[in-house]
Amino acid sequence: ARTYLVTGAASGIGRAVARRLTARGHRVIGADIKESEDSAIRADLSTVEGRAQLVEEAAELGGGRLDAVVACAGVGLFDPVAVSVNGFGAIATLAGLRPLLAAGRDPRALAVASLAAVHETDPAIVAAVLAGDEEAAVAAARAAVERGEGRLVYASAKRALVRWVRRAAVTDAWAGAGIPLNAIAPGIVRTPLSRPLLEDPELHALTDASVPMPLHGYADPEQLAPLVDHLTSPENTHVTGQVVFIDGGADAVLRGDEG
Ligand code: NAI
Repeated sequence: ARTYLVTGAASGIGRAVARRLTARGHRVIGADIKESEDSAIRADLSTVEGRAQLVEEAAELGGGRLDAVVACAGVGLFDPVAVSVNGFGAIATLAGLRPLLAAGRDPRALAVASLAAVHETDPAIVAAVLAGDEEAAVAAARAAVERGEGRLVYASAKRALVRWVRRAAVTDAWAGAGIPLNAIAPGIVRTPLSRPLLEDPELHALTDASVPMPLHGYADPEQLAPLVDHLTSPENTHVTGQVVFIDGGADAVLRGDEG
């Protein structure tokens, strides 16, 4: 049995992943801002203190080691907080827990990004997240919201996350330490996060047009869990630095020959 740490474990994709891993006999330490039976750690990843608390409690609960980390916590809001949670929170989860992974067995790490990461972004937000400048990133996100481009905030945080994953994956700290580090990019998944998009008929039509999923349509969170399980299992020895699209074909439709 392996010990996994899964953020965002109280709902949606994180919960489905945590439950699958638990059902397969692994130990899962869940973390979330919300209290739930699936999360032993309650931490707010939008704050520096919450991120430090996650690392501290994970070290304690894991006994100084973890075998895999899944950074799934995120918000779907077109608001600067998306930069703090989906960008800084996810990167801090992976970077902060890396020393525990280095002490683990067949360590693996994965970030839940999004198809949105390859859509239009705001370069100022992406650059600030990658520079680790949260104040500048939040200010750039606020500026985007003010000029009516709030949709770029979510995509930019996810773009920064996948860029960070690809850069870090091949460094001594990750590949050199034998730790595969990947991201998945889901299309639309039916969870509380996407519910507002699918409840409103007008937004639903817009979503159908912007995220075309010719294979099997929108996904349920349980349909993502096997891929996360594989990429974070000892069986994955050579996939690293990848963004794996699990999107029913949306990326192939939208970017065709560019991929
Ligand atoms: P969800 O809303 O069901 O679950 C997200 C979880 O993250 C919640 O339990 C929430 O409490 C937690 N969370 C939010 N803010 C937090 C914070 N500050 N600190 C700690 N935990 C926090 O949403 P879902 O859909 O399961 O999303 C999981 C991930 O998948 C997110 O990163 C999201 O961006 C990504 N994603 C979701 C898609 C979808 O269509 N649902 C599509 C592509 C990516």
